Amino acid sequence: SAPRTFRIAAIPADGVGAEVVAAGRAVLDALAQSSGGAWTFDWTEFPWGCGYYEKTGRMMDEDGLKILEGFDAIYFGAVGWPSVPDHVSLWGLRLRICQNFDQWANVRPVHFHPGVTSPLRKADDTALDWVVVRENSEGEYAGLGGRNLSGRGPGNEVALQTSLFTERGCERIIRFAFDLARTRPRRKVSSVTKSNAQQYGMVLWDEVFARVAEDYPDVETESVLVDAMSAKFVLHPEELSVVVASNLNADILSDLGSALAGSLGLAASANLNPQRRFPSMFEPVHGSAPDIAGLGLANPIGAIGSAALMLDHFGLADEAARVRKAIERTTASGVLTRDVGGTAGTDEVVAAVIEHLA
Ligand code: NAI
Ligand code: MG
Repeated sequence: SAPRTFRIAAIPADGVGAEVVAAGRAVLDALAQSSGGAWTFDWTEFPWGCGYYEKTGRMMDEDGLKILEGFDAIYFGAVGWPSVPDHVSLWGLRLRICQNFDQWANVRPVHFHPGVTSPLRKADDTALDWVVVRENSEGEYAGLGGRNLSGRGPGNEVALQTSLFTERGCERIIRFAFDLARTRPRRKVSSVTKSNAQQYGMVLWDEVFARVAEDYPDVETESVLVDAMSAKFVLHPEELSVVVASNLNADILSDLGSALAGSLGLAASANLNPQRRFPSMFEPVHGSAPDIAGLGLANPIGAIGSAALMLDHFGLADEAARVRKAIERTTASGVLTRDVGGTAGTDEVVAAVIEHLA
């Protein structure tokens, strides 16, 4: 039969984004080569990002979304550079794609790698592994609000940044979290809000959580306030399996999780449109890391792990497992970048992962 071709739009964007996207592509291409021609990846790379903005005044092509719609997936690096205000670059590219393609479920595994020292002593003798499920279409990042609303003049400016919580939006992400919990060894969902202080949107979330939980009697549940959950990540991480939270809270918690696992550079992420009406987008959790960009020092594990999530999305579960195994073997063998205490460059880690694919 004809080889199956997956069309992937690569958007390295800024800083270390270019280095880690190249890393993930190299691993996927090596994997495809060893598939005996059963399937191939057809890459198209787009030059969007802050450099593109400096030339054109836009973060992406005007027709960018139309162009991306035809792809099976988007493989993204990181956006942001000191030459462009962060809210302009983020909204102009990454959030534009996430929101217009209704990628409402952002899945962010917190995974501990062999050979990587965690700042958590518990990680030494406990198997730790959980997933942050982030509501990715509304909440605190709905973009609602405005500035200079009072008209009261200099020194008296008033700005509003309004959160949006819809019953449908809460329900779909909470159901997604429960369905994910059923696929994991520990069937448990922890819901995170700040409903004691945010009495409208987050109380709605809590109520939807309690209602949806009734449909999953086989899944343990808990509702935890976000400040308490941040403490729990550090003190009782062994009690976590699936953690579902709003856009901002989950953004913060997933950085905390990846730092506990050893580095921001390790963490993978999938922005999913579960109905598959639009392409989903796979990217490392970290940003463009201007402090190490261009030096060949970036940890590519987060981006390679994101490529594995993309393989899962394509239905290539065995191949995703192969990539994960190769990552484990690489970290266990001590081939580590500087952020996790090693001396290897990005290229050496990529070469080791490819070698361990075999
Ligand atoms: P950052 O994630 O870029 O960097 C934070 C720290 O982690 C830095 O010390 C950096 O060197 C380190 N780090 C990050 N990725 C690494 C990797 N792969 N290997 C080794 N070390 C790594 O976050 P920061 O500094 O707050 O933001 C920098 C820029 O990135 C900003 O413009 C920000 O808006 C943007 N950003 C973009 C994101 C995205 O595209 N999804 C997410 C977060 C930030
Ligand atoms: Mg973040």
